[in-house]
Amino acid sequence: MEVIKTPEAMQRRALELKRDGRVIGLVPTMGFLHEGHLSLMRLAREHCDVLVVSIFVNPTQFGPNEDLEAYPRDFERDETLCGQEGVDMVFYPGAENMYAGDASVWIDEHALSGVLCGTSRPGHFRGVCTVVAKLFNLVLPDLAVFGEKDAQQLRIIERLVRDLNFPVEIIRGPIVREPDGLAMSSRNKYLSESQRKNALCLWRSLRQVSELFEQGERETTVLRQAVVDSVESVSEAEIDYIEIVDDTSLAPVDEIKSAVLVALAVKMGDTRLIDNAGLRP
Ligand code: PAJ
Repeated sequence: MEVIKTPEAMQRRALELKRDGRVIGLVPTMGFLHEGHLSLMRLAREHCDVLVVSIFVNPTQFGPNEDLEAYPRDFERDETLCGQEGVDMVFYPGAENMYAGDASVWIDEHALSGVLCGTSRPGHFRGVCTVVAKLFNLVLPDLAVFGEKDAQQLRIIERLVRDLNFPVEIIRGPIVREPDGLAMSSRNKYLSESQRKNALCLWRSLRQVSELFEQGERETTVLRQAVVDSVESVSEAEIDYIEIVDDTSLAPVDEIKSAVLVALAVKMGDTRLIDNAGLRP
């Protein structure tokens, strides 16, 4: 497995691979890898000759009061896990190499980025879109895999690829959960023992709303309230948002007639957790 630490070296290697007609698959991550990330690597592997995993805690997608400094990092462990998964190349650049000190070009998505996580994290998706576009230009992937765990991010990346004509196929990877249902996340590490137990309210509330939906309920005010009640049964849980939105446009929906996304962000102490589930009539 090659570990590549500069953007120049990465692009040079990618150009060589393309010249040889190799199909490149990319899984972008911020490291501190877990089974969710590994599942994306296995999915990418099925579609490519050369599997590249990027590990980069992207500073531009963190707000001034967010956890950039505290974000968990363990490159040695990540490297071992990538090796075990048969990854061909790990792209592990430093922030100083990725952004010029006076970088002044950014990618702003305007239809899907202002809702859900975009409301509480202004500028977040601008940082995500910009770094993903840079990764595409450096790794030159034929395909890239993103997880449904970050459903809004996934839809924004699909829009980025469509609107800027990136020659990259985006593949969606399903959410991987802990045995008790908590969606895997690098940020779960922040949770205390009691917060970890309480964090199950996200999954529980999504299961309840799916059951109500299966029983025939289609009014989103009723369905949303069920999620709110379920989350609020845990006193420590502080709701950031709970929304039921159109699966494609992310616009609010009153009565469910086509696929929707139930998306929520909940703070347990200082830790903000997100989760989602799709409902299809
Ligand atoms: P990160 O949070 O490390 O996630 C990397 C990828 O793993 C994303 O596509 C995310 O949706 C996926 N993922 C995370 N948890 C998952 C789970 N439990 N099941 C399935 N997939 C999961 O998302 C980012 O990094 C960054 O924003 C990035 C795209 C790398 C840009 O900096």
